[in-house]
Amino acid sequence: MRTRLSRAHPSDLEALIGLEALTFPEDPWSDVMLAEELSSPASRYWIARGEDDTPLGYAGVKIGGDQADVMTIGVRPEARGRGLGAALLDTLLRWAAAAGAHEIFLDVRPSNAAAIGLYESRGFVEIGRRPRYFRNPVEEAMEMRALLTRADAATATK
Ligand SMILES: CC(C)(COP(=O)(O)OP(=O)(O)OC[C@H]1O[C@@H](n2cnc3c(N)ncnc32)[C@H](O)[C@@H]1OP(=O)(O)O)[C@@H](O)C(=O)NCCC(=O)NCCS
Repeated sequence: MRTRLSRAHPSDLEALIGLEALTFPEDPWSDVMLAEELSSPASRYWIARGEDDTPLGYAGVKIGGDQADVMTIGVRPEARGRGLGAALLDTLLRWAAAAGAHEIFLDVRPSNAAAIGLYESRGFVEIGRRPRYFRNPVEEAMEMRALLTRADAATATK
């Protein structure tokens, strides 16, 4: 299936609420939190849609000075394993580099092998653990970091 990846705007809130429920069923962000993220000047979100406009995935990043944080990334279950997560993450990394970030951080459940595989494939390495960081179920976080290069920034799309 062909997919279209574009910047997410506040008008995409309903689509993101739906994707959030599908990708994080045990512990979704609240609608208010998603709305705040979509309108925050420090954050940028992207949404991937199929040919029929079905929302397939999304990702967001927050910038603070020369550091950035991956806020979230999710692909609906039936669209996984086709490179969409990687495409979303690459877009996010390029934008963060172009926006001036030199390094980027994230927190992931150590039990989330798919996400860790994706992050490691893009140069993230573990830098520490945060005890009892996640809820539902309670689990420590694996903190990861990647360096952003000028080459990342050079291929960024607006
Ligand atoms: C993590 C997630 C976004 C990956 O999306 P995806 O579209 O399936 O990922 P891709 O098809 O682009 O895979 C890219 C790379 O990630 C890794 N990967 C993906 N699925 C994997 C799995 N089940 N096990 C191990 N590595 C995996 C591989 O390195 C893969 O590259 P390869 O196909 O060349 O081997 C998706 O599984 C998801 O939405 N999970 C639920 C939400 C979530 O946990 N988000 C992360 C929170 S920190």
